[in-house]
Amino acid sequence: MDFIVEGRAFAGGEFVECAIGIENGRISRIGKTIEPSGGCRRISAKHILPAGVDAHVHFRDPGLTHKEDFATGTMSAAFGGISCVLDMPNTKPPAVTTEALAEKIEIAKRKACVDFGIYAGASAVGNVEALAKKCTAFKLYMAESTGGLNVPDSEIEGICAKIAKTGKALSIHTEDEKTRKKFEEKNLEDHLKSRSNICEAEAVKRVAALAPKLKNEIHLAHISAKESIEYLKNKPKNLTAEVAPHHLFLNAGMDLRQYGKVNPPLRTKQDQSALWEALNLGIIDMLASDHAPHTIDEKEKEFNDAPSGMPGVETMYPLMLAASKVKRIEIARLANAISERPAQIFGFGERKGKIAVGYDADLIFVDFQNARKIKAEDLHSKCGWTAFEKFDAIFPESTMVRGKFVVENGSFVGAPGYGRYVSE
Ligand code: DOR
Ligand code: ZN
Repeated sequence: MDFIVEGRAFAGGEFVECAIGIENGRISRIGKTIEPSGGCRRISAKHILPAGVDAHVHFRDPGLTHKEDFATGTMSAAFGGISCVLDMPNTKPPAVTTEALAEKIEIAKRKACVDFGIYAGASAVGNVEALAKKCTAFKLYMAESTGGLNVPDSEIEGICAKIAKTGKALSIHTEDEKTRKKFEEKNLEDHLKSRSNICEAEAVKRVAALAPKLKNEIHLAHISAKESIEYLKNKPKNLTAEVAPHHLFLNAGMDLRQYGKVNPPLRTKQDQSALWEALNLGIIDMLASDHAPHTIDEKEKEFNDAPSGMPGVETMYPLMLAASKVKRIEIARLANAISERPAQIFGFGERKGKIAVGYDADLIFVDFQNARKIKAEDLHSKCGWTAFEKFDAIFPESTMVRGKFVVENGSFVGAPGYGRYVSE
């Protein structure tokens, strides 16, 4: 055995005082006590939780690495308790061809310090079968957003059917291009008007009607409007949905200027309440950060020209742990939504997403007494800012990926090149 970790671990649906044995990167035993053998290291922790799986990040590599790259993005993930990320295809070149996809996988293998999956972008021209052999999942944009990868409206159903045949999960950015209003935007209220609740709900309705005809996982990225949730009640089994922390914690009435500009937009307090409720009830399956960094210079452009997107991979789990402490979400629901469900939906739920024998030893160590305010200067994304300044958070003290510390007692001890591709 390599490690024995002792503490209150979230295993089997509750916190239990136990010892976790780790061997060759996997959890080999869970018991009341485990006798140490050989040169095994014994560590104690207050609370031990499954590390998070963030199935929606934009690490900007290749081509946009002035905003982020796989080294800084995965380091930021590790500090936020995330052991596995799934990277979106709107990079340069976009991951819509097998060449671009293969290049991105190689870059990530060299630079990532946590495990990763890679999305292929759905397009009218890409070779879906060939992409499916290499990618973790597909991403389809129904409306224009950063990167301009949206597919022609009339081709959406056809492309979805093609992807469904490959069996790979398909994540969809559900905003309706026809309903989107284009005008000179001055502030967050304008941005919300341009991408209204109905703009999202129409697209969700269309995908909810399509999903029963398809056999793969159809996943709705960043659900943000209360009207969308109506279509998720009694949804077909293969239809799943995520919510991003910014839609739970922020709204268009806040003084965030362009830093709060994201797609889909920040909405109202009523939408926030509906999202919290849907997440707590499991109507929304999972959390994902939609970490979409842009530099301060880019964000400081006039509102209308500033790019949409905000960082979030490092703050998602800490914000949610702080929310669990004040009972906005139960810890069991949180662990399921941030770890177990994303691993299941994206096809590696037999290896990652929970603390159980045989699973990857992807763990975070947490002290719930150790809450602090989020500060941009403490974070590790290349972009250097956060919209969650001064929000309460509980950061993990340590993050372990496959039995190795990447962050230990608040210090980075990881190495680029350690992260593995989950789809090999
Ligand atoms: O706000 C967003 N930013 N929404 C997206 O769909 C893309 C993302 C980005 O890549 O910046
Ligand atoms: Zn995104």
